[in-house]
Amino acid sequence: MIRPILRYGEDVLHQPAAAVADITPEIQQLIDDMIETMYAAPGIGLAAPQVGVALRIFVADVSAGRNPADLLTFVNPEFVERGGAQREEEGCLSVPGFNATVARSSRTVLKGLARDGREQVVEATGLLARCFEHEMDHLDGTLFVDHLRGLQKTLIVGKIRKLGRSGKW
Ligand code: NI
Repeated sequence: MIRPILRYGEDVLHQPAAAVADITPEIQQLIDDMIETMYAAPGIGLAAPQVGVALRIFVADVSAGRNPADLLTFVNPEFVERGGAQREEEGCLSVPGFNATVARSSRTVLKGLARDGREQVVEATGLLARCFEHEMDHLDGTLFVDHLRGLQKTLIVGKIRKLGRSGKW
């Protein structure tokens, strides 16, 4: 089932999410819904708070559905390593219509549980490394907009507030 994606300004997006205690059938259904919602959007990553669930789960597929092996689910993920640097433009399904250049690590290693509860460790570079950091941010209540400073941030937040006031957000 495709779930509605919440937008910047919703409380659940701006608060840390809680660890998952047990991968129950309900959690697996949530994961399946998140995958369906991510592909439908379309996007390359989606975190549970974006569908209103304050739990530490995200799904990602940097091939956007072209390569089934690229689909990843992480439950209770933690960084094992982060290194290097990259600056690329990124967006977010919860901040539609806006993009900005964000500084990220160029290499990240993430460990956590897969959909079936198995422990997994995934090493990422390039786009996937950036995606991991972006999705991990979501689990801590941080959006890419929060990394911006000065005029760039003021502009984006101002435009979002204006859209909100006219009921278009
Ligand atoms: Ni996002």
